[in-house]
Amino acid sequence: TRRIAVTGSASGIGKALVEMLRAQGDTVIGVDRDTADVRADLSTDEGRTRAVAEVADLGAGRLDGVVACAGVSLPDPIAVGVNYFGVVRLLEGLRPLLAAAPQPRAAVVGSIAGTQPVDQAVIDACLRDDEQAALERARAAVEGGAGFRLYPSSKSALAQWLRRAAVTADWAGAGIPLNAVAPGVVLSPMAAPLLEDEAMKKVVDEAVPMPLNGYAEPGVIAAALGWLISTGNTHMTGQVIYVDGGAEATLRGPEV
Ligand code: NAI
Repeated sequence: TRRIAVTGSASGIGKALVEMLRAQGDTVIGVDRDTADVRADLSTDEGRTRAVAEVADLGAGRLDGVVACAGVSLPDPIAVGVNYFGVVRLLEGLRPLLAAAPQPRAAVVGSIAGTQPVDQAVIDACLRDDEQAALERARAAVEGGAGFRLYPSSKSALAQWLRRAAVTADWAGAGIPLNAVAPGVVLSPMAAPLLEDEAMKKVVDEAVPMPLNGYAEPGVIAAALGWLISTGNTHMTGQVIYVDGGAEATLRGPEV
């Protein structure tokens, strides 16, 4: 059986993915803050390092796939710490294990939010791999009343990192496809409570129009991630796949 590590395994998309992978016979190592095989806070270097070590231990040194689902949508610097550095550091830490597997795969969860207005200084610091500067800039954004830009910034930076990293010797050269699924609005514990508030629902619906089938269930996103990390995916890499009911096509228009 394939061994797959999934972060954010306790809730929403990650939880749905764990259930799907286990049902198809894979061995899953779940990583999350409180309830998981590996309990780690991915906003800290200590947590990331320990997560890498414990995943390696539990997998007995073998890992066929990694899916980074853990994320937070708060208008707070922690969004940058978890959604960008928590993902990138974990993937980089687990990459040597993946490289030793026969058909390794990696995937992350982006967001339609990555196409919204961003804080370029936060993104630049992320892509320079300077977490301290990114968090400082993020704190400044919050103080300036632009904390709402941090979640989009974290997801945009992640997508840009992925497009660069995927085609390098470390990933493509090592035979590891690396892709993202970018959802629109998903009915998980992250987003569902927002939609109960009429005014907030209106804001969300205007920001993320989903003409095809509306809000997605977590399992829909899990299914797309499942294909990206399956052995059937031999040639797709560096892609951000919008599984968003048509939001990205609606918002960005026909140009590709
Ligand atoms: P969720 O809130 O249900 O699950 C997120 C999981 O990540 C939770 O189990 C949480 O404990 C874990 N997590 C958060 N911070 C962590 C940390 N510091 N260390 C370890 N684990 C941590 O949310 P959902 O919707 O399943 O989100 C999964 C991914 O999908 C996230 O990256 C999110 O940004 C993304 N996404 C979600 C959308 C939505 O509408 N729900 C839309 C677009 C993207």
